[in-house]
Formats: sequence, C-alpha cells, structure tokens
Amino acid sequence: LIGEVADEMNRPCFVIGGYVRDIFLDRPSKDIDIVTLGSGIELAEAVTTKLGKRAHLSTFRNFGTAQVKYSDQKENIEIEFVGARKESYSHDSRKPIVEDGSLQDDQNRRDFTINALALCLNKEHWGMLVDPFDGMNDLKKGIIRTPLDPDITFSDDPLRMMRAIRFATQLNFHIEKETFAAIERNRKRIEIISKERIIDELGKIIRSDIPSRGFILLDDCKLLPIIFPEVAALKGTETIEGRGHKDNFYHSLAVLDNVALRSRNEWLRWAALLHDIGKPRTKRYDSRLGWTFHNHNFIGEKMIPGIFRKMKLPLNEKMKYVQKLVGLHMRPIVLAEEVVTDSAVRRLLFDAGDDIDDLMFLCESDITSKNREKVKRFRDNFELVRTKLREIEEKDSIRNMKLP
Ligand code: CTP
Repeated sequence: LIGEVADEMNRPCFVIGGYVRDIFLDRPSKDIDIVTLGSGIELAEAVTTKLGKRAHLSTFRNFGTAQVKYSDQKENIEIEFVGARKESYSHDSRKPIVEDGSLQDDQNRRDFTINALALCLNKEHWGMLVDPFDGMNDLKKGIIRTPLDPDITFSDDPLRMMRAIRFATQLNFHIEKETFAAIERNRKRIEIISKERIIDELGKIIRSDIPSRGFILLDDCKLLPIIFPEVAALKGTETIEGRGHKDNFYHSLAVLDNVALRSRNEWLRWAALLHDIGKPRTKRYDSRLGWTFHNHNFIGEKMIPGIFRKMKLPLNEKMKYVQKLVGLHMRPIVLAEEVVTDSAVRRLLFDAGDDIDDLMFLCESDITSKNREKVKRFRDNFELVRTKLREIEEKDSIRNMKLP
C-alpha cells in the first residue's frame, strides 16, 4: 500500500534500516522505517488517508518526520516516515544539522552496514535491494561494521558505540577490527550521551541470550570503566602466600549467564550482575583466615543505592526491587560463610517478603560458590523460620518488630 501511494505521488520510496535487517535475519520486528525523496510528512499524510480510521498520524515538523500507528485485530504496527537526508554534526551534540539528500546520503548517515539496507517499494522495482556497503555480506558473515570511517560515525553519535556492542550481543555478531578499534579511540565521547540512553542499551544487552558477551566487549574496548565503573572494578585477581581469590568480574558474568539461561526476568539478571559489587574494595588478606570480605552492610545497604543515584536511574518500583535483591543476595552468601543462625534467617525473611524465591534462585545459580551445602541448609532453615514467623505475625504486627 505504501508503495502504491508513493507511485501515485510519483515518489521513490524505500523501507530501510532495522526492519530490512530483521527480515533477512528472520527476527520479529514491528517498527517500520520508510524513506522517500522529498517530504516524508506528505507521504505519511497520504498513507494515513488511504489506511482509513485505524491509522493515527503524528507529525514532527521540526524533524521533518511523521509516524503512523496502525492497529487492527491482527497487528499493531508503527511506521516512521522521513525524507532522505544528509546529516552533519557539531562536536558537542548528538543533534545533527539536516539537509535534504539522496537515498545514498541517507544510507551514509546510518550507523552500521547491516542497518543501511534499503528495499524499494515502488511497483517498477518492488523488492529491489539497495546495498551500497555490502551490508548483505556482513549480515551473512555476522559482522558489525560502519558504512563510513568509523571515527566519524562514532564521533557524530557516540551512542552508536553502545549500539555496536548491543547488536553484537543480541545477534551474536563480531565487531569488525577497525570498527572496534574506533570504539576504543572514541570511548570518552560516550560522556555526551545521557545516562538513560546508555541504560537503555545496557538493558538490551542484559536481556540477550548470553549477556556476558556484551559486558566482556564493553570491558575490552574500555567503555565499561566510564559507563559503569563499579562493575569494571570487579575485575582482577590477587594471590598472596599462594592463595588466590576468584576474579569477581568473570564470576559475576558466569552467574549472570547462568541466571539468563533459566529466567527472562530482567531484574533478576541485574541482581546477578551486581551481586558482588563493592566486594573487591572490602577484600583483605588475613594470614590465618585467607581472603576475607568484610564490611558487608556498607556494601549491601549504603553503597548500592549510591550507585543507582550516580547512574541517575529512575527510581521506579522495579529498581527498588533490584536494590533489594542485590542487597539481600549478599547476605545469604555472607551468612553461608559464617554460621547460619535462625535469627539471621529471620532477619532476611523479614526483609525479603515475597522476593525470597527469586533470591534463592539467584543463590543456586552461583555455581562456583563453595558454600552450596550451607546455602541448602539455609534454605531448609528458612522454611522452618517462615512457619514460625507466620505464628508471630498472627500475634502482633510484624511491621513494628525490631530487627534482631
Ligand atoms: N540509526 C542510526 N544511528 C542511531 C540510531 C539509529 O544510524 N544512533 C538508524 C539505523 O539505520 C537503524 C535505524 O536508524 O537501523 C532505526 O533505528 P532504531 O529503531 O533505533 O534501531 P533498529 O536498528 O531498528 O534496532 P532496534 O529496534 O533493535 O533498536
């Protein structure tokens, strides 16, 4: 239909970007990007009229774009219309200076070769692929590569460095050598990107099948210490008197992948990644005891909220939930290293409420833990205490109870 309308208006018209990529990758995708020569808004208006009352048009005249939302019983789709454009950037902003351009100009401004593929919608050449950067070959080989000089692509819009790593993680693709080197060179530019956008990309990484891939790439190109220093600080091992301790970074990633294998719960995944945050800082070596990790309250209760403040995360309910899990996850491990007492279990139970099953799941995913036996004992104790606590709860209001 879009092609027919474009033909009536005598306009070249293409579907471009992620939608085309996903067709060839056989991935579901519902956001469609249409590029035309001339005004994208005029084409969107004509398409909306043709679609009838199930279509809703929004126009963004400042950006020269328009969006059509269409829904019926079968589907909900969003179609974005834009006139082909040429973009140039100033050094301190992601906002481009925009001029009208050709299809080739429009493809030049795209982030990766696999996202610059265009399919013609006009009747005469319907389905013709326009692929000036050999994106199809990259798609087949699983390569992320910028269409132009990667230093320009990343410096123009540094968010693309995160996008490269996110696509590599989601699609299990490899980032081409020059492109990857340019990410490392331009990494400081990430500072002009808002935290919300960075977290958006991190969210897509953590929701992937094997999220560790993304965090390893972020570490390799040295973006990680800039965007999430607390996770980067987990890295490193030390050996004193022949006794080493595990590298908390790779350990946390193993726990994360293990959780990801069994659960799609994003917040549980965040908790898995963050469960050891701050541990290296409190690490010390005792000649009698070996490696110890003290000051857990500081980690569990003060430092974690601090991190979230620093990341400027919206403190919505889900984040509070993550904080809670992150804080709580440390306690059973701490407890497992010491003696599991009923009062400690009761304290944990008091805080955990209904999240306890997720918490236990997280503990069990920590396959490298030396304390699995103790965690199991803890779980058994926990069940006992849960019953006891219910009895107390019936007697007096638990909310007023002083924590032991
Ligand atoms: N794009 C770009 N640079 C960006 C963001 C987007 O060049 N920083 C271009 C790419 O051509 C991309 C298209 O705009 O394919 C649409 O962007 P978007 O919807 O954000 O991403 P998709 O590629 O569709 O992927 P996803 O939906 O997974 O985010």
